[in-house]
Amino acid sequence: MSFTVPHTELARLEAQVQAALRTTDDSALDVLGYGEVSLVLRLRTDQGAFACKRLPVFPDRGRFERYQEGLDEYLRRLSGSGVNVAETKVWHTHHPSGGITAYCLQRELPSQRLCSRLLHTEGETWAKDFFSRFLDQVDGAVDPALGLDAQATNWVEVDGELIYLDVTTPLMRDARGRERLDVRLFFSSLPWFLRDAVRLSMTKSIFDKFYETRGVLLDFLGNLHKERLDALIPAFLEQANARLAKPITAEEVAAYYRGDARMWELIQRLRQADRFWHRRIRRRTYPFLLPPPVDR
Ligand SMILES: Nc1ncnc2c1ncn2[C@@H]1O[C@H](COP(=O)(O)OP(=O)(O)OP(=O)(O)O)[C@@H](O)[C@H]1O
Ligand SMILES: [Mg+2]
Repeated sequence: MSFTVPHTELARLEAQVQAALRTTDDSALDVLGYGEVSLVLRLRTDQGAFACKRLPVFPDRGRFERYQEGLDEYLRRLSGSGVNVAETKVWHTHHPSGGITAYCLQRELPSQRLCSRLLHTEGETWAKDFFSRFLDQVDGAVDPALGLDAQATNWVEVDGELIYLDVTTPLMRDARGRERLDVRLFFSSLPWFLRDAVRLSMTKSIFDKFYETRGVLLDFLGNLHKERLDALIPAFLEQANARLAKPITAEEVAAYYRGDARMWELIQRLRQADRFWHRRIRRRTYPFLLPPPVDR
């Protein structure tokens, strides 16, 4: 069911977010979910509730327009290769700094239908059936120019259909294998002393895995550790390996997860430190909403 963007309500939400950043008190915000990168806020309106994903502030219109074109192309290409993507629209407004604030907007889908939740609440039969449909979608979509961040928290099942949610960071590469995303902007929540180092040395290795089926599956399986769903790994490995030229082992999944968890933990800790520096030492507004620490 298609929707129109609720402009007035979004303007009010953005005012609330700016107040929260200014006062460092985010208790008035209605949080729908936490990702590694962003907070997802709920917005209730007369046409139903929405999930609102705030993007980093774009310094000028050109960079915002490039993002919007990239996102639209990403949504088209995913749908074209058989992934059901949640309908996503972008709303934007002018930011006091002179830049542009924007949100990705989706209808709020039922949180009890999030696949990471269903893997806890449904039985093994559902889990295996889910994973086989999941493998079809991943395998049909992922290629060296089109990536997918396919963790279980990025899918919901509604009316028997898998729907993909996590599109705010479009994963597309050009013919020379370079990220088409404005990586510099999307890494702007990293402390300045890390930004260049990370951009240069880590971008490729952070993103590589999303562009091949085996990497996407390794990431999915590794994250089952974080979701306390380790018990499902052996059955899923068997299903996955039936399709892979080079099988994945349980040890590889565990080692991958330890490495990935350490990286995100480090990034989160540096961000908290950077926020402290902004607020307490320089007495300036820290411009991002951060998720709370994750228990890994
Ligand atoms: N349309 C939606 N309806 C209900 N809940 C949602 C919706 N979109 C996102 N969420 C919740 O918010 C969480 C994070 O959303 P999403 O995966 O889109 O962002 P993210 O993981 O922060 O993105 P990134 O990978 O860029 O960090 C989801 O796992 C889910 O719990
Ligand atoms: Mg996500």
